[in-house]
Amino acid sequence: NICLCQRGRDPPTARSCKELKQKHKFNKDGLYFLRSARGVVYQTYCDMTTAGGGWTLVASVHENNMYGKCTTGDRWSSQQGGNSNSPDGDGSWSNTVTFGTAEAATSDDFKNPGYYDITAEDVAVWHVPNNERVDRWKQTSFLRYHTVTKFLSSYGGNLYSLFKQLPVKYNAGSCPANHGPTVPVAYDVGDATSNHNQFGPNVRANSVPGFITFRAINNERAAMAICLGVKPTSCHTEHSCIGGCGYFPEASPRQCGDFTSLDWDGYGTHAGWSASKQITEAAVLIFYR
Ligand code: G3P
Ligand code: CA
Ligand code: CA
Repeated sequence: NICLCQRGRDPPTARSCKELKQKHKFNKDGLYFLRSARGVVYQTYCDMTTAGGGWTLVASVHENNMYGKCTTGDRWSSQQGGNSNSPDGDGSWSNTVTFGTAEAATSDDFKNPGYYDITAEDVAVWHVPNNERVDRWKQTSFLRYHTVTKFLSSYGGNLYSLFKQLPVKYNAGSCPANHGPTVPVAYDVGDATSNHNQFGPNVRANSVPGFITFRAINNERAAMAICLGVKPTSCHTEHSCIGGCGYFPEASPRQCGDFTSLDWDGYGTHAGWSASKQITEAAVLIFYR
C-alpha cells in the first residue's frame, strides 16, 4: 500500500517532494499534494526513499498506440499527424499545458505544474509496465536510473527550461553537433547491461548505455527529448529516444509518435532496430530532485 501521508486539513505548502521531505519530514513513498509558486495545487507521487529520496514525479510518457503515428494520445510528440508545418508538434516539452493524473501515470500521459515550477538538479527515470497501479510501481518497475551530476542547474533547473533552450523541434539542429547534454546515470533497478538489452542489436551497436542524452537529433533533423538510458553513437536516434517533435522525414509518418520508432523492425520484436515488448509496453516516468 502507498502512503496517503497528508491529512486533508494539512495545507499543501511545499513546492516539491524534496521540500516535503526536508522541511516537513515526510519520508514515505506515496501520493502527496504540492503547490506551485502561482498557487496551483496538484497531486503527485513522491519517491521518498530512493538514493536519499525527495523525488517528485513530474511527467510520464505513455505510448497508448504504437501503431498510431502522431495520432490521439501522442501528447509528447504530436497529435496532429507528422507534418513539417508543425515542427514542434504539440510543444509539450516547452509549454505549461498539463494533462493526466498521478494515479493514471502508467495508463496515460501525465504532466503536472512541477514540470515547469520546480527548480531541480537531477532527473530520475522509471520504466513501469503500462496500467500498473500506483502502489505497485516500485515493485514492478524493471529499470530505474537517475542522473548524478546536477546537470539541470546548468539548464535553468528543470526540463521545461532545458527544452526552451534546446527545442524538441524538427530542423532545430543537426546530429550530432546540436545534441543536448549527455549525462551519466546511476541505476536503482537494473543495470547498464540490462538497460542496453532492452533494445535490438542494431540499436546496441549504435549506442552506449549508462547515460541519458537529452534533445537528440537524427539523420533527418528530427528531434527527440530523452534517450532511454543510452547515449546514441550514430544518428539513428529514433529507436532509443522518445518524445519527439512534430515531423520525422524518414518514411514519414512511421517514426512519429511518443515512442518514436521503437517498432521500426516490428512491434516488440527485439530484432534489428526494434525494442523489446517489455520496454515498448512500459510507461516512462520522469522525476526531479
Ligand atoms: O534507422 C534505421 C533506418 O534509417 C534504416 O533502417 O531498415 O534500412 O535497416 P533499415
Ligand atoms: Ca502518449
Ligand atoms: Ca534512421
